[in-house]
Formats: sequence, structure tokens, C-alpha cells
Amino acid sequence: MKTIMLSPQNDKNAVNTAASLIKQGEVVGMPTETVYGLAANALNGEAVAKIFRAKGRPQDNPLIVHIADFDRIYELCPAVPPQAKALAKAFWPGPLTMIVPKGDCIPQEVSCGLDTVGIRLPAHPLARDLIRAAGVPLAAPSANTSGRPSTTTAEHVLRDMDGKIAAILDGGPCGVGVESTVITLALDKPRLLRPGGITLEQLRAVLGEVEVDRALYEKIGDEVRVSAPGMKYRHYAPKAPVTVVRGDPQRTAEYIQKQINGPTGVLCFDEYRSYFPTCVVECFGSQFDLAAQAREVFDRLRAFDDTDVTRIWAQCPSDEGLGLAVANRIKKAAGFSVVEV
Ligand code: TXA
Ligand code: MG
Repeated sequence: MKTIMLSPQNDKNAVNTAASLIKQGEVVGMPTETVYGLAANALNGEAVAKIFRAKGRPQDNPLIVHIADFDRIYELCPAVPPQAKALAKAFWPGPLTMIVPKGDCIPQEVSCGLDTVGIRLPAHPLARDLIRAAGVPLAAPSANTSGRPSTTTAEHVLRDMDGKIAAILDGGPCGVGVESTVITLALDKPRLLRPGGITLEQLRAVLGEVEVDRALYEKIGDEVRVSAPGMKYRHYAPKAPVTVVRGDPQRTAEYIQKQINGPTGVLCFDEYRSYFPTCVVECFGSQFDLAAQAREVFDRLRAFDDTDVTRIWAQCPSDEGLGLAVANRIKKAAGFSVVEV
């Protein structure tokens, strides 16, 4: 299959072309404010199955369904919890996915045997235009090969998906850079399953108590049943093994300096670039700029794959605000190999 790049900047039919491919049951790379997604008609099981094949995604990992208008949620979820309405009012359109009880129209290919479905109303205007033009809700996981870092530019998507999907709608680089926050409203208490652009502090300001799933902090074994199946897989990982060093940035930089041995990569804050003259250094933003870190982290992790490093050391922000999401992605890239200094 030839993957076509559709650029709305120089082709005014780009969105309609992408929408008609989706109507024909094809998969299209879709820009969102978080990361790029691999979108297909969420109500068409065969189309959704193509997403799993393109990604090499494990069959037990359900997909998020994207809508462009809040009222479409009632078609996907028979009983919308009141908390979902409160969260939607506060954070939609935006980087928040809510897990709610699913309706009968959701095919097995989307929910993978669960009785719930994740729903998100993205803020990116091209995502919303595409959903409206397709006329159906769109199932879309992140547009990376399973296990690789998520994609935040159309070029990243092409690199992973060339020849595997029909088209990519180019919306430029993603503004948030890490995937949406995932919260489940299908348990006794609301629980954060994946940190993202909407912070835990923001969720608590609306809902009061919000539990945090332990998968955020530790590696989950294959035998364990987790709330979000995606959380148990090795994720976001460059080819070389990564170790995270947490603590005061000055101290972590000095610790990493002492470990350097052989072709080494370092993922560090901008302030520490000069500490590692013999290494492949990828900076992912100032230590004081969490938004920049979120935007850059996947692109910088991907960059190591074009080098010959055999080992990667990474600095990492603390867990406050958006730091929780950035730190989670770096720890997952490291398979939770973390040193505290
Ligand atoms: O920002 C995002 O959320 C991006 C863009 C494209 O919207 N999408 C995305 O999808 O990150 P994906 O498939 O890469 O991650 C979805 C996560 C997975 O960890 C999956 O297991 C979990 O959400 N998930 C999806 N449906 C679920 C459900 N019904 N119950 C529990 N977890 C669910
Ligand atoms: Mg993903």
C-alpha cells in the first residue's frame, strides 16, 4: 500500500480525502493536540482490525474512541456518569480520555472484551474536522509501532507506518506531546490510569478524590490483570536500554557523568548539555519548563535510534503537575529501571 501524505496547507481537500478513506474502511494518521493517532471508523470492526495490524498491537489492548461533539457520547455510552459531564465541562475539548460503560454499538475489536470504552474529544481542529467529515466516531491509538515512542510529527508517523496505512493528515508538530490523561469512571472511585496533559491536581479540583493506579509507579507483570491493558507493555522505548536517574538535577547530572562508558546516550535538561561532551546528548527542555519537556520527550527518545549508542541515561522531572506524565513516559521507556540519587 502506498501511504499518501495529505497536507491541508497546500491541499484544501486534504481533510475530505482523509474522511473518504475512513468511510471506505481505511486507516488514516490523524493529528491531535497530544500525539498523532491511527484513526479508523470505530463502528466498523474490520476497519479497526487494520489498526492492530499496522501497529503490531497486542489483541487485548483496547482503543480510545474520538468524538467531535459532546452529545455523540450518548451513542457510545448508555449511562453517562455525572462525573463525566463535570470533567467534559472542565476539560473537553482537550487531552482527557474517560473510561465509561460501553454501549452495544462498540465492536469487540475496539473494547477487546471489556465492558467499558475510552472516549475523548480532542482539541486539535483538524482532528475535529476529520471526525465530523467522516461522520462517525474514530477509534485511534497513538500512531507508533507498538512498543516504540509515540509520534508527535507527521514524519514520525510516516517512519513507523509507511506502506501500512492509507494516508497521513499532516497537522504539524503536536502541541502537548504526551498522550491524553486516562481516568476511569467505571470503578467505585475515579482512578487515574495514565497521567497526561490534564494533571492529577486538575482532576482532583473537579472530582475531589481521585485514586492513582499503581501501574503509574511500577512495572506490572504479564500475569497481572490491569485496569488499562496498555500499561503492562514495554513502551516508548528506544532500541538501547534506558536507565532513569531521579533526584536533584545537579546531582543526577553528576551521577550520570560518572557512569559514562562506551557509546552512551544522555537524555537531559537543556541546562546540563555541556556536562556530557563525549556522549550523544538529547536535551528535552529546560528543567523549569514541563510543557517543553512534554512536547520534546518522544522526539528526543526517537532520535537515539539514529545513533550507535548502546546505553542511555536519562534525567527526569519530579511528579508535580505535568511532571507526573513526563516522568511516567521516561520511566516506561526505561522499563522502570530507576536509580534515585
Ligand atoms: O492522546 C491520546 O490518548 C492518543 C491520541 C491519538 O488520542 N491516543 C492514545 O491511544 O494514546 P493508545 O491506544 O496509545 O493509548 C490508550 C490507552 C491504553 O493504555 C489502553 O490500554 C487504555 O488507554 N484504554 C483504552 N480503552 C480502555 C478501557 N476501556 N479501559 C481501560 N483502559 C483503556
Ligand atoms: Mg500508545
